[in-house]
Amino acid sequence: MTSLLLQVENLTIGFPRAEPVRNLSFEVRAGETLAIVGESGSGKSLTALALMQLLPRAAAVISGRIIFDDRDLLGLDAREMRHLRGRDIAMIFQEPMTSLNPVMSIGRQIGEVLKAHEKLSGRAARERAIELLKLVRIPAAEKRVDDYPHQLSGGMRQRVMIAMAVACRPKLLIADEPTTALDVTIQAQVLDLLDTLRRELQMAVVLITHDLGVVAQWADRVVVMYAGRKVEQALPGELFNDPLHPYTRGLLSASPRLKHDFHYLEGPLTEISGSIVSAAGEVGCPFRPRCCQARASCGHQVPPLIAQTPDRLVACPFTSSLKAVPDAAHLSL
Ligand SMILES: Nc1ncnc2c1ncn2[C@@H]1O[C@H](COP(=O)(O)OP(=O)(O)OP(=O)(O)O)[C@@H](O)[C@H]1O
Ligand SMILES: [Mg+2]
Repeated sequence: MTSLLLQVENLTIGFPRAEPVRNLSFEVRAGETLAIVGESGSGKSLTALALMQLLPRAAAVISGRIIFDDRDLLGLDAREMRHLRGRDIAMIFQEPMTSLNPVMSIGRQIGEVLKAHEKLSGRAARERAIELLKLVRIPAAEKRVDDYPHQLSGGMRQRVMIAMAVACRPKLLIADEPTTALDVTIQAQVLDLLDTLRRELQMAVVLITHDLGVVAQWADRVVVMYAGRKVEQALPGELFNDPLHPYTRGLLSASPRLKHDFHYLEGPLTEISGSIVSAAGEVGCPFRPRCCQARASCGHQVPPLIAQTPDRLVACPFTSSLKAVPDAAHLSL
């Protein structure tokens, strides 16, 4: 049984007038890739930032617990969190150009991480930076270490971000849409690299993405979020072959890339009408206004998550059926 690395329990994140993440619970096991999917505005990035304790100033964790490696992160002070961030939990962001310092060579930027967490400086830091550039498959690393971000392609800049993130061999890497800004062939290379590093460094990855093709190829388990809540959780095979929540079904039906691979997906592409609306003050299922199966009772309360197995949860009482879960071999993609 794989050990639990991170447990998020009933996390609610609030701004003064909204709670964009509500009662969110999920866990990450050592060494696995957990994908979090959901459309724009569903609260994925805020969740990631809460794990790092880097929420925007106006936002706060209203309630919940974040247990990482047996410690409640919300109980740590700023110094303890600084110590942990970048060393035990690291994060890579969507747009590497805005995350890298344009006036500092990439070697020095990687060196800053090593200086902060491993007390390396000077020649030792430079040598380690070169090793890390090699680790992320940057060709001619000895020369490239002195380059500035603008001298690198988008894919290479993202590799540098990954090098900085894994510099201290974190146990958990949070990748928030790490390849959205890259073209498709480079996306696959970067995701392959992340997966290889996950295995080599034995780290867990939380992979935040819009892209269901990415989920199918790289995730061990999937959490589907809608309007700040978890609406479904499954293994990828279960999710793509037998999605239970009406939102997940809509999401898959709107996805062109998976149509030939999974038998749920046949027929024309369809959209989910409407958009995520702020549910402030609303009662009932947040997906109700867009759900073609909504009934009067959906307005009474937020549907609780129904579990068939610990990994198969759905927040809708009207799914067609909660079938017996086929054996794992059948589900592997
Ligand atoms: N600094 C902020 N001030 C006010 N509201 C915010 C702020 N940051 C995020 N929000 C709101 O919180 C909600 C969730 O945002 P979040 O960035 O987590 O979404 P997301 O799922 O990451 O979306 P995307 O896929 O577009 O990145 C959105 O409705 C967003 O408008
Ligand atoms: Mg986001």
